Amino acid sequence: MSQLPLQSAELFHQNCYVGGEWVAATSGAKLEVDNPASGEIIGNIPDFDASDTQHAIAAAAEGFQQWRRTSATTRSDHLYRWYQLMLDHSDDLATLMTLEQGKPLAEAKGEVLYAASFLRWFAEEARRAYGDTIPGSTPDQHIIVTRQPVGVSAAITPWNFPAAMITRKAGAALAAGCSMVVKPAEATPYTALALAHLSQQAGIPAGVFNVITGNPVIIGQTLTSSPTVRKLSFTGSTAVGRKLMAQCAEHIQKVSLELGGNAPFIVFDDADLDQAVAGAMASKFRNTGQTCVCANRFLVQDGVHDAFVSKLADAMSKLQLGDGFAEGTTQSALINRAAVEKVQQHYSNAIQQGATRVFGPEPHDAQGNFVAPVLLTGINPDMQICQEETFGPLAGIIRFDNEAQAIQLANDTPYGLAAYFYSQNIHRVWRVADALEYGMVGINEGIISNPSAPFGGVKESGLGREGAREGMAEYEESKYLCMGGA
Ligand code: SIN
Repeated sequence: MSQLPLQSAELFHQNCYVGGEWVAATSGAKLEVDNPASGEIIGNIPDFDASDTQHAIAAAAEGFQQWRRTSATTRSDHLYRWYQLMLDHSDDLATLMTLEQGKPLAEAKGEVLYAASFLRWFAEEARRAYGDTIPGSTPDQHIIVTRQPVGVSAAITPWNFPAAMITRKAGAALAAGCSMVVKPAEATPYTALALAHLSQQAGIPAGVFNVITGNPVIIGQTLTSSPTVRKLSFTGSTAVGRKLMAQCAEHIQKVSLELGGNAPFIVFDDADLDQAVAGAMASKFRNTGQTCVCANRFLVQDGVHDAFVSKLADAMSKLQLGDGFAEGTTQSALINRAAVEKVQQHYSNAIQQGATRVFGPEPHDAQGNFVAPVLLTGINPDMQICQEETFGPLAGIIRFDNEAQAIQLANDTPYGLAAYFYSQNIHRVWRVADALEYGMVGINEGIISNPSAPFGGVKESGLGREGAREGMAEYEESKYLCMGGA
């Protein structure tokens, strides 16, 4: 791409950021990055091999030695500066994101603010790395517990939130005193490299925040086979998370995994239907259906089923499919051809088993990576759409009869990231919130992501939490000091 539409052209980097320097792969190898909406090549990025990755780990180890000795206030100030720089450059960051990821520009701007909010949250939290004092077992003994940084940390981040999934990890790591090597998705490296540029501007010392690009398998193996790396945080599929966790076993690296979901969205007869439809739209169609917390299965009770379907179809008719840069676009290109084919597969599988298309065109008529929103009724739990994340704008409705059945259907999955339900009955609200086997539950709320709240799942949706107090603890170790003879 010849001229990028950026106000600050220096934000666009085609090299990796290691030890405070912008570097190419030693071999000179590169990967192309394209715009998923047009297929146009945006640029190239270095294809790092194992030795380049080891170099980045060594740089992070040096950075760690300096960073761990800074005061919490200094770390907080740096993170706060980084946050402000993200706000100052929010238009450019959003432009880069829409170019490489495809999401509508308004959503990209929203993501920049969401991503920046993690830096602000952890800038504040950095000052609260409190320990404990505990009464000793004899009068001359004191027990003190301090919080220490885990050490060099690695992050492997996904393409669906090119900025927020980095700041959610890096904000916590840097606040705790860790250094970090980030490997962004091959599809969306430019937002990550722009964040590295801003970290440099924010005065974060060389080696503390590093961004490397290339083959995920080689880089993942190198990060997990290094005894220097003490922590890995990964956001992505359960299949890849399982492999990485096994690899981390070699050096007993600490792991945080934010993996796949299969979110139920339950609408009870006593729900406020307009509120439920607004929540359904926000949850299902955010990022064109490409989030781990997107509603994946709508469970709607008999008494409101038809009214909900009709209101949802009406709301869906107002969605606008188009290029992420076009005015008014709310749904844009999916990330690649494989994503389009997955939606088509889930659709065909559901139709073959008796589902009915009540709104939207045939997904098989998709142009390029653009899939129009589709609504299906008559879904059942045996269909692929109920068993796997669709990660696209295909919504399917299961009809249910009673509360126990809804809970059974909702929990009948190996996943446990996010769930949503709508009810105006306070007794039901507590019962259902308690019974859902999920790490996060939206109650009369379709958007639950928030830097102050612990984000993460149970079962095969992952380990650990991001954001909130818990997010920083993932990058800390407790050290117990036992002082005797005092
Ligand atoms: C994800 O889809 O992995 C993250 C979504 C969020 O942070 O809201």
